[in-house]
Amino acid sequence: MIPIQPASSLSDTPEPVPDLAHYMRAGTLQFQTLPPLALYVHLPWCLKKCPYCDFNSHEMRAAELPEQPYLNALMADLEAALPLIWGRSVQTVFIGGGTPSLFSPQAIDQLISGIRARLKIAANAEITLEANPGTFEKDRFKAFHGAGVTRLSVGVQSFHDEFLTTLGRVHNRAQALDALAEAATVFDTFNLDLMYALPGQTLAMLQADVATALSFAPKHLSVYHLTIEPNTLFAKHPPAKVDDDLAADMLDQITAMTAAAGLQRYEVSAYAQAGHACQHNLNYWQFGDYLGVGAGAHSKLSFAHRVVRQVRLRDPARYMVHAVAGNAVAQSFEVKRDELPFEFMLNALRLAGGFDLSLFPERTGLPLSKVQAAMEQAVQQGLLLRQGSQVQPSVRGFDFLNDLQALFLPSNA
Ligand SMILES: C[S@@+](CC[C@H](N)C(=O)[O-])C[C@H]1O[C@@H](n2cnc3c(N)ncnc32)[C@H](O)[C@@H]1O
Ligand code: SF4
Repeated sequence: MIPIQPASSLSDTPEPVPDLAHYMRAGTLQFQTLPPLALYVHLPWCLKKCPYCDFNSHEMRAAELPEQPYLNALMADLEAALPLIWGRSVQTVFIGGGTPSLFSPQAIDQLISGIRARLKIAANAEITLEANPGTFEKDRFKAFHGAGVTRLSVGVQSFHDEFLTTLGRVHNRAQALDALAEAATVFDTFNLDLMYALPGQTLAMLQADVATALSFAPKHLSVYHLTIEPNTLFAKHPPAKVDDDLAADMLDQITAMTAAAGLQRYEVSAYAQAGHACQHNLNYWQFGDYLGVGAGAHSKLSFAHRVVRQVRLRDPARYMVHAVAGNAVAQSFEVKRDELPFEFMLNALRLAGGFDLSLFPERTGLPLSKVQAAMEQAVQQGLLLRQGSQVQPSVRGFDFLNDLQALFLPSNA
């Protein structure tokens, strides 16, 4: 889960997007090269809204899904965005949601072909699709694979029916097992999402969930601590909270069990076999660029002298109307120069292995001197390790990541 589709209380009306010349004008940042570029496509519908979820997802019956109008809107949205990424090739594609697997394999095929017809996609690009076991039927995953999807990400959350009910999931344990068996047969790399610190969950129940997940030999596993997000049903009616010590023990168990199965914790919530880290998410964490199309999608795009963020119209119906007119953007703004160090660290310090110092100027257009003092402070406090040009959070820094990241806030500069 990447925090890029949160509920937003900001404006949801179309806003004219400045042209390329405006973004190319002189400015105080100096990019030597532009970061790698990824494409995110948001499909905003689910069979049922989960009570913990604050993603831009809306309930829709499968038979009423406006597949073709939405695909048309996505293509118009993409075409309108092309001048801002002119000449750049896309390294990875992530089709997220919502529940993208609600869309038919034919629609996903049309989507991927449409993207390929409009954008240069790198050879062997990772193309991920998020799937919900509640939309699983025989041969559906094979058809997604045939459409060009290279990596499936299956949202399982738990293998205990009682938790699946509490979490408002549309699938049960049996459907999750069937979906994973098929994913493991069809895809070389697939991911599965689990959640932990669930109301009433014991350490033994968590161990059973992780063991079941690992029995499918996934090359990638994401395990998220249940968070209570504002404006969700759980925020209004909070479930019993798991004690912090128990949650910490659960995390230790997850790390130990995944390590024993050959999966390394390479990011706060992500575990993978060597060579199977999610390339698309790595690009976010390494402060790469991404174009996000679809309702409520977020973009971050760099130009020679600035970094620009955009958010597309959130409401799917309004998005469709305005996107076909090439007018899907609700907000666009430049990231302030003094906010870039914190934004960079907010992402890069989530990586257990940290980053090479050269990445900071490369991805922010700022000199390294902007973070030198805060880095020294972090090293002194035992939160950051530095070896040559490589920096990484210490074990304590990883445990107290918010404190480490906060050292890079503008107020601290
Ligand atoms: C946007 S969802 C997409 C997957 C798909 N829609 C599904 O739920 O099956 C990505 C993942 O984020 C995680 N997630 C969403 N909301 C969360 C929350 N409040 N706390 C912890 N994890 C959450 C879930 O594990 C979910 O699978
Ligand atoms: S299925 Fe996924 S995106 Fe949809 S409401 Fe549930 S967690 Fe959110």
